[in-house]
Amino acid sequence: MCRPTYFDVTYSINVWMDPSRPTSARTGQEQWKGLHDTFSTLGHRVELIEPVPGLPDMVFSANGATVVDGRALVARFRDRQRADESAAYLDWFRAAGWSEVCQAEYVNEGEGDFLFTGTEILAGTGFRSDQRAHDEVRDFFGRPVVSLRLVDPRFYHLDTALSHLGDGEIMYYPGAFSKESRSILSERFPNAILADESDAAVFGLNAVSDGKNVLLPQAATGLAARLRDRGYTPVGADLTELLKAGGSVKCCTLELRE
Ligand code: ARG
Repeated sequence: MCRPTYFDVTYSINVWMDPSRPTSARTGQEQWKGLHDTFSTLGHRVELIEPVPGLPDMVFSANGATVVDGRALVARFRDRQRADESAAYLDWFRAAGWSEVCQAEYVNEGEGDFLFTGTEILAGTGFRSDQRAHDEVRDFFGRPVVSLRLVDPRFYHLDTALSHLGDGEIMYYPGAFSKESRSILSERFPNAILADESDAAVFGLNAVSDGKNVLLPQAATGLAARLRDRGYTPVGADLTELLKAGGSVKCCTLELRE
């Protein structure tokens, strides 16, 4: 995770970001701390990357890399405003002793668009990560990759529209995907939880699951109930300040799979 010390909305690279609307780094920091402490309370070890001045979106560490089987593929950002984050992630992984660390060649926004289900990697494209990045990810990790196309600008990263819950179970908002991608998803995941628009619009799919507890934005009350029905424990988090930049629980969390 990355503390939102320099959090702000000073540019707009997604439809949620409106630089004319006031934001509070202080509120962002308090909310972020709530999420951080929830992970710790649940027994998860949290590593921190040092925030860099001038990189207000760095709090969204999910975008920094994709990490599977002890290998880290560091992001290549679409927008120049975030490009310098890559160097910070490369340094972090190397300093932490990870041996297989490499920066992606094609635009690749890390776990924002690449979600590991335990066997395969679900990959998003349409707004951010390049379609060619999907092949690169397949080659780098040697895991099957399923390409999915996003079509609604509110859900510009895969992790804003789909979340892996555990054991190959997922939840997603069908309206965020192209017709072809919707068929792929319904065929592969016939038992998925389908979110309705009201839960998706508060970023309810931007969730992190440890297989039992599912941390998600607290406003996604419908999804929380559906998760409870399936035997998960939903844990609500208030990250409304960070949502002004188009991010929430999952965006703030990069999973390190050793
Ligand atoms: N403002 C950031 C951007 O547009 C938000 C990133 C959200 N991260 C995510 N994993 N969806 O790049």
